Amino acid sequence: MCGIVGYIGDKKATPIIVDGLSRLEYRGYDSAGIAVFKDNKVQVEKYEGRLSVLADKVLEKDYNGTIGIGHTRWATHGAPSDANSHPHTDQTGDIAVIHNGIIENYMKLKEWLIEEKGVSFKSETDTEVIAHLINYYYEGDLLDAVFKTIEKMEGAYAIAVVCKDEPDKIVAVRKDSPLIVGLGKGENFLASDIPAILKHTRDVFLIENDEVVLLTKDRVTIYNELRQVQAREIYKVTWDVESAEKEGYEHFMIKEIHEQPKGIHETLNRRLNSEGIIELDEIKITKEDLDKINKIYIVACGTAYHAGLVGKYAIEKFAKIPVNCDIASEFRYRDPFIDENTLFIAVSQSGETLDTLAALREAKRRGARILSVVNVVGSSVARESHDVFYTWAGPEIAVASSKAYTTQLTAMYMIALHMGLTKGALSRERYDEIIAEIGKMPEKVQSILDDFTDIQHLAGTQFNNESVFFMGRGLDIDVAMEGSLKLKEISYINSSAIAAGELKHGTIALIEDGTLVVALATQDKLYEKMLSNIKEVKARGAHVVAIAKEGNKEVEKSADTVIYIPDTMDELAPILSVVPQQLFSYYVAVARGCDVDKPRNLAKSVTVE
Ligand code: M6R
Repeated sequence: MCGIVGYIGDKKATPIIVDGLSRLEYRGYDSAGIAVFKDNKVQVEKYEGRLSVLADKVLEKDYNGTIGIGHTRWATHGAPSDANSHPHTDQTGDIAVIHNGIIENYMKLKEWLIEEKGVSFKSETDTEVIAHLINYYYEGDLLDAVFKTIEKMEGAYAIAVVCKDEPDKIVAVRKDSPLIVGLGKGENFLASDIPAILKHTRDVFLIENDEVVLLTKDRVTIYNELRQVQAREIYKVTWDVESAEKEGYEHFMIKEIHEQPKGIHETLNRRLNSEGIIELDEIKITKEDLDKINKIYIVACGTAYHAGLVGKYAIEKFAKIPVNCDIASEFRYRDPFIDENTLFIAVSQSGETLDTLAALREAKRRGARILSVVNVVGSSVARESHDVFYTWAGPEIAVASSKAYTTQLTAMYMIALHMGLTKGALSRERYDEIIAEIGKMPEKVQSILDDFTDIQHLAGTQFNNESVFFMGRGLDIDVAMEGSLKLKEISYINSSAIAAGELKHGTIALIEDGTLVVALATQDKLYEKMLSNIKEVKARGAHVVAIAKEGNKEVEKSADTVIYIPDTMDELAPILSVVPQQLFSYYVAVARGCDVDKPRNLAKSVTVE
């Protein structure tokens, strides 16, 4: 996803910007560019490809500018190319703009600029329109021209602008796309994400929606849309950039898989009081509020959606409230039935996923109470929610989610238990029993991680498959969906997950000699049924890898390989059964030589529809 970095101060801007952009590489991008001052001109350099392509070209040139903006682009309007990369300039080349997000009415604006103003465009992007509009309104005051421009723009965006005639300022705007300002002494920074500037400062202003920021080297002024100056408290960043680095692991993904015991422990234990009761200070939903809630929607995308599916099961089981779990991009267009007795739970690692955010806004507009389960503190989803449950997974850099998922599961169980106890739907005894078992999860996950070599070996024998099927019943199908997504997104193997009972209704036609089937059989109630499903696919020639609980040895009679997870209650098995699937996907992707942390066509934070 696109990244923004800006610098204004006394140091050379180029190395600072390039370094900042490198901290955002994990978000996914296909081109990069900068605009800095040289010899009283705004110099723009931008190239398709990795940031190193840009870095090689610009770092050797002696740009003396101490002000500049830089961008990593993830293509939306117009294919990845040098011309479509940011920054974009107006016709004079004096005004340069970088932009995250989408300008929805850009076609209308573009036609007007071409027909009425005779502007000729150099790119296929929506962003270029912004540069030309600013030029159109520019009468010696960049801030004023930007204000006039954004009045004409519809959509979601964060932008940063520099202008040759005002070489002592950067103007930036946030509308539904993240933007922060880093505060230094005699220098200031701008970025779409905190890690980009953390090397330089821990003092940050979080810019709100519809705010415009004017940065000079000594001052940062924030304006609302009425051009009134806004006061802002400094947000002190307490986490360390070190934790966002690989610490000796070959990839972020495997590092993050190994960080799961810690993430689960933190998410749970930081909220348990001395009597073992979950205290959710961040959630202000009272018993009276809960008694009124007659319906819950859990809405999310990708992995977070898969965590939501388990959340649905847990809330219905422990709190006895009906739950729908929806894919965010579908939810907002299907006219869902929502009123003030509806609780809407958004689940998102980044807190910036546009589909989730848009669904949240729609639910809020219709009167729902919004609770979010989010990893990134201060993200848009968190800020727009009434109540927030932060998963303390720490920064997740790999595009493929792992520790975010298991901490989201932990969060969903905790919310379900909290609701169940508050409503009186769950006995204290049962509640204590489940909390105690969640408390054992870090150790149990660790034991699976310690035995990784068997899974690594299995991946070494199976990495050449063209397609893989995952199957399960009950909660196992929810986790099989996550296993399947993991495998396809990082190894590019065509995989799908099916409810095992559905096999006979179609999918079994695809099973032939050697087809790899990963069968989850962790649910005691459904174990016998799963054994029958395994036999069904074995009879058609499938190669079956089963995931089962320790002690359930019967499965060895029909599966080719069995991966055991530690014994646990059925309800909590997803936290464990996902781990061998994450490891399998990771080692398969490594064996296939894939770019594990940055899979093709994907981005970490999907801030476009
Ligand atoms: O940041 P979010 O949790 O809202 O992201 C949602 C999905 O884009 C994300 O989970 C995606 O599916 C991951 N690449 C899966 O590994």
